[in-house]
Amino acid sequence: MHVGIIGVGNIGSIIADLLLKQGHELHLINRHVDKLRKYEGIANTYLDVEKLPEVDALFLCVKPQDALGALKKIPSSKHRRLFISTVTGFTIGEITSYVNDDVTRIMPNIPISIGKGVIGISYSKECSKRKDEIQRLLTPFGKLVEVDESLFPAVTALSGSGPAFIFVIIESLVDAGLKLGLPYETAMKLTIETFRGSAELLEQEGKHPGELRHIVTSPAGTTIEGIYSLEREGLRGTIMKTIFDTYKRALELQKS
Ligand SMILES: NC(=O)c1ccc[n+]([C@@H]2O[C@H](COP(=O)([O-])OP(=O)(O)OC[C@H]3O[C@@H](n4cnc5c(N)ncnc54)[C@H](OP(=O)(O)O)[C@@H]3O)[C@@H](O)[C@H]2O)c1
Repeated sequence: MHVGIIGVGNIGSIIADLLLKQGHELHLINRHVDKLRKYEGIANTYLDVEKLPEVDALFLCVKPQDALGALKKIPSSKHRRLFISTVTGFTIGEITSYVNDDVTRIMPNIPISIGKGVIGISYSKECSKRKDEIQRLLTPFGKLVEVDESLFPAVTALSGSGPAFIFVIIESLVDAGLKLGLPYETAMKLTIETFRGSAELLEQEGKHPGELRHIVTSPAGTTIEGIYSLEREGLRGTIMKTIFDTYKRALELQKS
């Protein structure tokens, strides 16, 4: 498949690297040449959106403030391309007013770089008929979760920005391990495996997290002491507020 990517920054380059591995013919556009250099000889590269040739699918991966400038310059196509936008705050309706394509909006997160991401996805009415095609293109990135477009700011807060919050939590657990005398590598391994195992157990058992938490919490034991501290310090509220503040910012971006 001929795939175009406008904006080869953080997300665009991750998408490009994965699509190259899948054997697609790529057409990469970035206004500064530095980000294109690593693709010379393995993909077609361009400095200007106006140079985009005919493609089957086109990803828009620029910052919200650059999206209008890029959209206005996209050459029209003889056929309806699959148009996939990662741009925060830009609606399918807004994009459709600039391109004559079948538009899908996605909110990926960075674990897509190893095929373990989660992608919030919303299809335009026209795209709903091309779901198989879109899913074939995106499945190597991770799991797709279809949501109503009105819920995109919530998806942005929870899973789009989520890895950053998880990394901060992992860092603090590792630091706690260091404070208790564990070597860094040991603390990191114990933390990562605890995250992985807990998430996989939760998924496999299909239970509410409170139920599994209860199993590990014996009367007058160590865990209840930690839970008591965690609740007194307001961790639950802190995390909920973190997601809510991120959501409010995503809403602001959408409005502006
Ligand atoms: N990062 C994430 O985890 C994440 C997750 C989900 C969604 N998103 C969304 O994905 C979008 C991209 O984010 P990002 O973090 O990848 O941004 P980024 O690293 O800044 O990448 C954007 C790229 O687009 C290029 N660009 C901007 N306008 C252009 C134009 N008119 N023509 C050609 N190239 C142009 C920029 O070029 P130069 O820098 O060379 O000028 C830059 O390389 C954003 O809307 C963001 O909200 C990001």
